[in-house]
Amino acid sequence: MAIQVTWLSHSGFALQIGAHRILIDPFLSGNPLATVRPGDLDADFILLSHGHGDHIGDAPAIARRTGATVVANNEIGGWLRAKHGLAHVHGINPGGGVRLAFGRVELTIAHHSSSLPDGSYGGQPNGILIKTDAGPKIYHAGDTAVFLEMQLIGDEGIDLAMLPIGDYYTMGIDGSLKAISLLRPKVVMPMHYNTFDAIAQDVALWARRVQNETDALPVVLDPGGSYTL
Ligand code: NI
Ligand code: MN
Repeated sequence: MAIQVTWLSHSGFALQIGAHRILIDPFLSGNPLATVRPGDLDADFILLSHGHGDHIGDAPAIARRTGATVVANNEIGGWLRAKHGLAHVHGINPGGGVRLAFGRVELTIAHHSSSLPDGSYGGQPNGILIKTDAGPKIYHAGDTAVFLEMQLIGDEGIDLAMLPIGDYYTMGIDGSLKAISLLRPKVVMPMHYNTFDAIAQDVALWARRVQNETDALPVVLDPGGSYTL
Protein backbone atom coordinates (compact mmCIF):
# COMPACT_ATOMS: atom_id res chain seq x y z
CA MET A 1 0.00 0.00 0.00
CA ALA A 2 1.42 3.36 -1.02
CA ILE A 3 1.81 5.96 1.68
CA GLN A 4 1.57 9.58 0.58
CA VAL A 5 3.55 12.08 2.63
CA THR A 6 2.77 15.78 2.23
CA TRP A 7 4.90 18.46 3.90
CA LEU A 8 2.71 21.23 5.33
CA SER A 9 5.90 23.25 6.10
CA HIS A 10 7.71 23.60 9.44
CA SER A 11 7.24 20.25 11.27
CA GLY A 12 3.78 19.66 9.86
CA PHE A 13 3.00 16.64 7.68
CA ALA A 14 -0.14 15.04 6.29
CA LEU A 15 0.05 11.28 5.72
CA GLN A 16 -2.43 9.35 3.63
CA ILE A 17 -2.21 5.67 4.57
CA GLY A 18 -4.90 3.79 2.67
CA ALA A 19 -8.16 5.45 3.68
CA HIS A 20 -6.65 6.96 6.84
CA ARG A 21 -5.64 10.65 7.02
CA ILE A 22 -3.06 11.50 9.63
CA LEU A 23 -1.70 14.94 10.54
CA ILE A 24 1.53 15.52 12.46
CA ASP A 25 2.18 18.88 14.22
CA PRO A 26 -0.27 20.89 12.04
CA PHE A 27 0.98 24.48 12.52
CA LEU A 28 -0.70 26.63 9.85
CA SER A 29 -2.15 29.80 11.42
CA GLY A 30 0.68 32.31 11.82
CA ASN A 31 3.02 30.14 9.73
CA PRO A 32 4.39 32.23 6.84
CA LEU A 33 5.24 29.12 4.75
CA ALA A 34 1.89 27.33 5.06
CA THR A 35 0.04 26.81 1.78
CA VAL A 36 -3.24 25.52 3.22
CA ARG A 37 -5.60 26.82 5.86
CA PRO A 38 -6.57 24.69 8.84
CA GLY A 39 -10.17 24.57 7.58
CA ASP A 40 -8.97 22.88 4.38
CA LEU A 41 -7.50 19.85 6.16
CA ASP A 42 -9.37 16.69 7.03
CA ALA A 43 -7.98 14.26 9.54
CA ASP A 44 -8.81 10.98 11.22
CA PHE A 45 -5.77 11.15 13.50
CA ILE A 46 -3.52 13.96 14.74
CA LEU A 47 -0.11 13.16 16.25
CA LEU A 48 1.69 15.80 18.35
CA SER A 49 5.38 15.85 19.25
CA HIS A 50 5.32 18.45 22.04
CA GLY A 51 3.51 21.43 23.50
CA HIS A 52 5.07 24.41 21.72
CA GLY A 53 2.73 26.60 19.69
CA ASP A 54 4.54 25.89 16.42
CA HIS A 55 3.65 22.18 16.86
CA ILE A 56 0.28 22.12 18.67
CA GLY A 57 -0.64 24.77 16.12
CA ASP A 58 -4.15 24.31 14.79
CA ALA A 59 -4.56 20.80 16.20
CA PRO A 60 -7.28 21.65 18.76
CA ALA A 61 -9.46 23.38 16.14
CA ILE A 62 -8.93 20.67 13.52
CA ALA A 63 -9.65 17.93 16.06
CA ARG A 64 -12.83 19.65 17.21
CA ARG A 65 -14.10 20.12 13.65
CA THR A 66 -13.18 16.67 12.33
CA GLY A 67 -13.52 14.53 15.46
CA ALA A 68 -9.98 13.23 14.82
CA THR A 69 -8.31 11.12 17.50
CA VAL A 70 -5.27 12.88 18.95
CA VAL A 71 -2.11 11.17 20.20
CA ALA A 72 0.25 13.20 22.39
CA ASN A 73 2.07 12.88 25.66
CA ASN A 74 0.03 12.47 28.83
CA GLU A 75 0.13 16.13 29.95
CA ILE A 76 -0.82 17.46 26.51
CA GLY A 77 -3.56 14.83 26.33
CA GLY A 78 -5.02 16.04 29.63
CA TRP A 79 -4.78 19.66 28.50
CA LEU A 80 -6.60 18.92 25.23
CA ARG A 81 -9.40 17.23 27.16
CA ALA A 82 -9.69 19.90 29.88
CA LYS A 83 -8.99 23.08 27.95
CA HIS A 84 -10.35 22.20 24.51
CA GLY A 85 -13.01 19.66 25.43
CA LEU A 86 -11.62 16.98 23.13
CA ALA A 87 -12.96 13.51 23.82
CA HIS A 88 -10.83 11.33 21.54
CA VAL A 89 -7.35 11.68 22.99
CA HIS A 90 -4.59 9.19 23.79
CA GLY A 91 -2.15 10.67 26.33
CA ILE A 92 0.79 8.26 26.20
CA ASN A 93 4.48 8.48 27.08
CA PRO A 94 7.82 7.17 25.73
CA GLY A 95 8.20 3.41 25.90
CA GLY A 96 4.47 3.06 25.37
CA GLY A 97 2.37 3.18 22.30
CA VAL A 98 -1.16 2.92 21.03
CA ARG A 99 -2.70 0.74 18.33
CA LEU A 100 -4.67 2.75 15.79
CA ALA A 101 -6.53 1.81 12.61
CA PHE A 102 -3.40 2.16 10.42
CA GLY A 103 -0.75 0.76 12.77
CA ARG A 104 0.98 1.39 16.07
CA VAL A 105 2.14 4.85 17.21
CA GLU A 106 4.84 5.20 19.85
CA LEU A 107 6.44 8.25 21.41
CA THR A 108 10.21 8.44 21.72
CA ILE A 109 12.38 10.73 23.78
CA ALA A 110 13.53 14.09 22.44
CA HIS A 111 15.95 16.62 23.94
CA HIS A 112 14.00 19.88 23.98
CA SER A 113 11.30 21.59 26.09
CA SER A 114 7.50 21.41 25.95
CA SER A 115 5.45 24.19 27.64
CA LEU A 116 1.97 24.69 26.22
CA PRO A 117 0.82 27.93 24.49
CA ASP A 118 -1.05 29.13 27.61
CA GLY A 119 1.96 28.45 29.86
CA SER A 120 0.66 25.11 31.18
CA TYR A 121 3.16 22.33 31.83
CA GLY A 122 3.45 20.28 28.66
CA GLY A 123 5.35 17.28 29.98
CA GLN A 124 8.41 15.98 28.16
CA PRO A 125 8.98 16.63 24.45
CA ASN A 126 8.80 13.61 22.15
CA GLY A 127 9.54 12.15 18.79
CA ILE A 128 6.92 10.00 17.06
CA LEU A 129 7.46 6.50 15.69
CA ILE A 130 4.78 5.15 13.36
CA LYS A 131 4.84 1.42 12.65
CA THR A 132 2.29 1.12 9.85
CA ASP A 133 0.37 -2.10 9.25
CA ALA A 134 1.27 -1.57 5.59
CA GLY A 135 4.92 -2.12 6.54
CA PRO A 136 6.86 1.15 6.38
CA LYS A 137 8.15 2.66 9.61
CA ILE A 138 8.19 6.44 9.87
CA TYR A 139 10.06 8.44 12.51
CA HIS A 140 9.25 12.13 13.09
CA ALA A 141 11.91 13.46 15.46
CA GLY A 142 9.92 16.47 16.71
CA ASP A 143 12.17 19.25 18.01
CA THR A 144 15.37 17.72 19.34
CA ALA A 145 19.10 17.64 19.53
CA VAL A 146 20.79 14.51 18.26
CA PHE A 147 20.89 11.79 20.95
CA LEU A 148 22.61 8.43 21.10
CA GLU A 149 19.38 6.45 21.60
CA MET A 150 18.56 7.26 17.99
CA GLN A 151 20.58 4.10 17.39
CA LEU A 152 17.80 2.07 19.10
CA ILE A 153 15.18 3.78 16.97
CA GLY A 154 17.30 2.99 13.93
CA ASP A 155 17.38 -0.69 14.95
CA GLU A 156 13.61 -0.77 14.20
CA GLY A 157 14.44 -0.28 10.49
CA ILE A 158 13.31 3.21 9.58
CA ASP A 159 11.98 3.77 6.06
CA LEU A 160 11.42 7.52 6.41
CA ALA A 161 12.84 9.94 8.98
CA MET A 162 11.75 13.57 9.31
CA LEU A 163 14.52 15.54 11.01
CA PRO A 164 14.78 19.19 12.07
CA ILE A 165 17.71 21.01 10.47
CA GLY A 166 17.01 24.61 11.50
CA ASP A 167 19.57 24.98 14.31
CA TYR A 168 18.92 27.51 17.13
CA TYR A 169 15.95 25.60 18.71
CA THR A 170 16.94 22.13 17.47
CA MET A 171 19.82 20.33 15.83
CA GLY A 172 21.14 21.96 12.69
CA ILE A 173 22.68 20.45 9.57
CA ASP A 174 25.72 18.95 11.34
CA GLY A 175 23.50 17.41 14.04
CA SER A 176 21.11 15.99 11.47
CA LEU A 177 23.98 14.23 9.69
CA LYS A 178 24.97 12.57 12.98
CA ALA A 179 21.30 11.65 13.53
CA ILE A 180 21.13 10.04 10.07
CA SER A 181 24.22 7.94 10.85
CA LEU A 182 22.49 6.67 14.03
CA LEU A 183 19.01 6.19 12.52
CA ARG A 184 20.10 4.72 9.17
CA PRO A 185 16.79 5.63 7.43
CA LYS A 186 16.19 4.79 3.78
CA VAL A 187 14.71 8.24 3.10
CA VAL A 188 15.17 11.45 5.10
CA MET A 189 13.20 14.70 4.90
CA PRO A 190 14.29 18.01 6.43
CA MET A 191 11.87 20.04 8.55
CA HIS A 192 11.80 22.95 11.02
CA TYR A 193 13.82 25.33 8.80
CA ASN A 194 13.23 28.62 6.94
CA THR A 195 9.92 29.30 8.73
CA PHE A 196 11.55 32.10 10.72
CA ASP A 197 14.82 34.05 10.29
CA ALA A 198 16.36 32.29 13.31
CA ILE A 199 16.09 28.89 11.58
CA ALA A 200 17.10 29.88 8.02
CA GLN A 201 19.15 27.11 6.38
CA ASP A 202 20.62 26.22 2.97
CA VAL A 203 18.55 23.09 2.31
CA ALA A 204 20.35 22.37 -0.99
CA LEU A 205 23.63 22.19 0.95
CA TRP A 206 21.95 19.85 3.45
CA ALA A 207 20.75 17.57 0.64
CA ARG A 208 24.22 17.48 -0.97
CA ARG A 209 25.82 16.57 2.34
CA VAL A 210 23.26 13.80 3.02
CA GLN A 211 23.93 12.46 -0.47
CA ASN A 212 27.71 12.56 -0.03
CA GLU A 213 28.10 11.61 3.63
CA THR A 214 25.30 9.10 4.35
CA ASP A 215 23.47 6.16 2.75
CA ALA A 216 20.06 7.87 3.06
CA LEU A 217 18.12 9.40 0.19
CA PRO A 218 17.40 13.09 0.92
CA VAL A 219 13.94 14.21 -0.19
CA VAL A 220 13.33 17.97 -0.03
CA LEU A 221 9.70 18.97 -0.51
CA ASP A 222 8.28 22.42 -1.11
CA PRO A 223 5.51 23.39 1.32
CA GLY A 224 2.44 21.54 0.08
CA GLY A 225 4.58 19.06 -1.87
CA SER A 226 4.16 15.29 -1.64
CA TYR A 227 6.27 12.14 -1.81
CA THR A 228 5.01 8.59 -2.18
CA LEU A 229 6.68 6.04 0.07
NI1 NI B 1 9.63 23.28 20.19
MN1 MN C 1 9.49 24.05 17.17
